[in-house]
Amino acid sequence: MKTTALLALLVLPAVLRAQPAPPRPPGAQPPPAAVSPAPGQQGGALPGLTAAQRAVFANGFEAFAQRETVDSGLGPIFNDVSCIACHIAPAPGGGSRRTVTRFGRTTNGTFNPLEHLGGSLLQDRAIRPDLRETIPAEANVVARRITTPLFGAGLIEAIPDAAIRALAATPNKPDGVKGRVSTVVDLTTGTERVGRFGWKAQQATLLAFSADAYANEMGVTNRFFRADNAPNGDLTRLDRADRILDPEDEVDPATGKADIDRAADYMRLLAAPARSGATDSSAVRAGQSVFSAISCTACHTPLLRTGASSVAALANQPVPLYSDLLLHDMGSLGDGIAQGSAGPREMRTAPLWGLGRRNAYLHDGRAVTLDAAIRAHDGEGAKAAARYAALGGPQQQQLIAFLRSL
Ligand code: HEC
Ligand code: HEC
Repeated sequence: MKTTALLALLVLPAVLRAQPAPPRPPGAQPPPAAVSPAPGQQGGALPGLTAAQRAVFANGFEAFAQRETVDSGLGPIFNDVSCIACHIAPAPGGGSRRTVTRFGRTTNGTFNPLEHLGGSLLQDRAIRPDLRETIPAEANVVARRITTPLFGAGLIEAIPDAAIRALAATPNKPDGVKGRVSTVVDLTTGTERVGRFGWKAQQATLLAFSADAYANEMGVTNRFFRADNAPNGDLTRLDRADRILDPEDEVDPATGKADIDRAADYMRLLAAPARSGATDSSAVRAGQSVFSAISCTACHTPLLRTGASSVAALANQPVPLYSDLLLHDMGSLGDGIAQGSAGPREMRTAPLWGLGRRNAYLHDGRAVTLDAAIRAHDGEGAKAAARYAALGGPQQQQLIAFLRSL
């Protein structure tokens, strides 16, 4: 049983708690879990949901915000205790500069994720200090990835595979840009799907990502990931520490849902990022033209559309995400890790919506300015970056004003 509403409340920053909780009489029900922002605010639910769907969103938020404990299945090795610990800026459901570490070994151009040594994802915390993973000496590639925001994730999920495949098949893109569909087996259905979530487009559905994050970021086993990770692959150390029966995330018979389902519901119904600042100033409009003129749009496709959905608010909607959701060979900007169908140099075109509210860019957060993020494009993105570098200062500033408005 993993519902501890009070603990969920404690993880939120003070600003999100409207009132200090009054002392509870012994034996009283815990107060309702922390509420996420109101509809229309960043981190709120999609507009146009029914009352029942808003209740599903609120219930999902509770799971997303809940702090796992050893008794609820945390660890033995993990990276943090709740989804919201990392997905918090600038509002719940966002991202953060918090990184996770991946490692592996490349020999003669072939990447080995060193699974037998606990790779490729490092879990850098543990329920006991002696269990904590370290990067093995065998690793010669170590990459960090920052936490991506989840705003509008349900809209991205509802984009039909065919729409993404069509972008990959578009002939004669400028600057020799190609772009490849990430084909993955969605472990929740066992079917081949177009991956779209994560820096490597490694997952196709929110439920699959949720199940993966519960298991690999928090150590909470579930019906899709049934075994705990062994510290650096050492099953003996795991056996000595693991006291909780798997799967730890159980289906609640009353609702038919486990926490992985509730967190997926929450992300699916989370509103898209709102544009920020003066979105219609002359500088922003001029910057938008520059963005197309220098072919940033070859990868950062301004608009896709969702297909059919059982949720009306997700059906046939415009999705101004500024991404083709394809994998591109980014040359030296690649992170050196092969994952899913992505090779070491391939990265998913990062969606640019919500950019105005972020302060670290690129997969490892190395760029603290948009200017630096653009200049770091290499491989298929090198020509666009060179065109940006050749622009006059005023045009560069217009382009950046446009990006900051997204
Ligand atoms: C330790 C920090 C951390 C925790 C805890 C965490 N995440 Fe994440 N999340 C990340 C990072 C880092 C990424 C980017 C990872 C990548 O692509 O390799 C990410 C990416 C995602 C994405 C992909 C979004 C996109 O841009 O396509 C989803 C969905 C997601 N997380 C859901 C969750 C859920 C649900 C939980 C809780 C079960 C969770 N995360 C817990 C750090 C975290
Ligand atoms: C060949 C495809 C391609 C082209 C062309 C391209 N980009 Fe990108 N862009 C990407 C990929 C892939 C990433 C993610 C890179 C990484 O791994 O960090 C990215 C990341 C970014 C980011 C950082 C986003 C984030 O979430 O941190 C910005 C800003 C950006 N691009 C702007 C531009 C601009 C402006 C142009 C035009 C000058 C451009 N891009 C052209 C593929 C492209």
